[in-house]
Amino acid sequence: MNRKEVVLIIDFGGSEAQLLARRVRELEVYAELVPYSMPLTDMLERKPQGIILFGRVRPDMAASAPSIDPAVFELGIPILGIGYGHQLMAHLLGAKLTSHQGNEHDRRLLAVDQAQGILTGWESEEPCWLGLGAQVETPPSGFAVLAHTGNAPVAAMGDGKRHLYGVQFHPEMDQTTKGPLLLRSFLFDICGLSGGWNMGMFAEDAMASIRNQVGDGQLICGLSGGVDSSVAATLVHQAVGDQLTSIFVDNGLLRQGEPEQVVSTFRQRGLKVVYADARERFLTRLAGVADPEKKRKIIGEEFIRVFEEEAARLGKVDFLVQGTVYPDVIESGDGPAAKIKSHHNVGGLPDKMNLKLIEPLRYLFKDEVRRLGEELGLPEELVWRHPFPGPGLAVRALGPVTEEKLAILRAADAIVIEEIKAAGLYRSLWQVFAVLPDIKSVGVAGQERTYVYTIAIRAVKSIDAMTANWARLPFDVLEKIMQRITSEVPHVNRVVYDITPKPPATIEWE
Ligand code: XMP
Repeated sequence: MNRKEVVLIIDFGGSEAQLLARRVRELEVYAELVPYSMPLTDMLERKPQGIILFGRVRPDMAASAPSIDPAVFELGIPILGIGYGHQLMAHLLGAKLTSHQGNEHDRRLLAVDQAQGILTGWESEEPCWLGLGAQVETPPSGFAVLAHTGNAPVAAMGDGKRHLYGVQFHPEMDQTTKGPLLLRSFLFDICGLSGGWNMGMFAEDAMASIRNQVGDGQLICGLSGGVDSSVAATLVHQAVGDQLTSIFVDNGLLRQGEPEQVVSTFRQRGLKVVYADARERFLTRLAGVADPEKKRKIIGEEFIRVFEEEAARLGKVDFLVQGTVYPDVIESGDGPAAKIKSHHNVGGLPDKMNLKLIEPLRYLFKDEVRRLGEELGLPEELVWRHPFPGPGLAVRALGPVTEEKLAILRAADAIVIEEIKAAGLYRSLWQVFAVLPDIKSVGVAGQERTYVYTIAIRAVKSIDAMTANWARLPFDVLEKIMQRITSEVPHVNRVVYDITPKPPATIEWE
């Protein structure tokens, strides 16, 4: 068990390499991603015990296609080529490839010819996610065909003596049912690794590299209390202590008790937290604004202004810490140079402020960030918090935002969360919250007619928020929520449950 075990993933483009890296991490082996253009000597400085050549399949092996120093195959280090890595390995070692228009992928049935090496434990037929680009016709000398499909005569190949393997299909994709077994065979049997890498080691390495990068520079970060910024701030604080100042902007659009809770949690942990009370500023600018996109724009702009003002008060600042996680990062079309999709909350900050970015979570997926948060000792409540939109309650109080509407929404939302937690359902949901539609309806209270607001409850299940399904909440939980809201929250006489999936609806109502 040690972090010195490194598998190098040489990235030939396409954004899927991160998913592969994650699969390797799931097997408790540290995977480092490097661009194919890195000189071989630099790659070897990382002392990899295994190398994976990875890329999206190509329709042909044009001379201009990305390549690598063929000396890599002479080092005695086990190598696995995946997709384009398989094509390239075959090509560089002298095999013939036929071209095929397009580079789409499809689920195909793999006919396993030899269940050995990387295919140890595979049945004679297994489903796989196959790249339909240029196909290896016959394997390079020394290689055996391990598997084929109808149109891929060499879908998997291996040279057991030299520990070189290639697969035209993608083991990191769920469609390849035995993908995890393949990676396991490669890492533990062929590379001889022992595993045992964990998030604690990730944290130590990340802290060391942050220290290295920032020296005695000053850092700031926007702390929202969301999982990503909380974990990023905590990690950086553990690395550089008081060189980091976190700025918490209270925009008046947060949930009940949230500002106090976030500020006190982090101050107790020893972080320097600036509390910027900007409630009035935001609400003044939002007055009378009903259009959701206008609201978002105002909130985004105002956030940047407040943040800049607070940062200016701190004197010289060199770095901005952002909790960008992998799904926020878009790979550019070719090659692994990643461009940042600015997170809508803080878009424009680094450009305008001339700060260098520190993004310690940029290679992690959300659930990995949560595990890291637990590793760093953050409270469960924070680590497992549902996503909360940057524009906050402004996009849940529909129409123009007013103090009155925010107070109603906050009280109703607190009841929803409390009851969902009490029923043990919170973790099973992607998000659950209250919405205040801009409508009033008729009701009765005692002998009196009422004409007040409706609260809608939104509870969804989702993997990544791209699509979502409404949660089948038990009726008794819904009923309890309704009873409490209608009796405890003034100006509400009706509660409805939103049963619309995304699409056609979105998760938020605005
Ligand atoms: P929708 O409503 O588009 O939301 O289905 C998808 C996910 O994104 C969150 N969301 C936002 N997050 N700023 C944010 O930081 C925004 O303007 C914003 N709008 C939606 C939403 O809560 C859900 O998780």
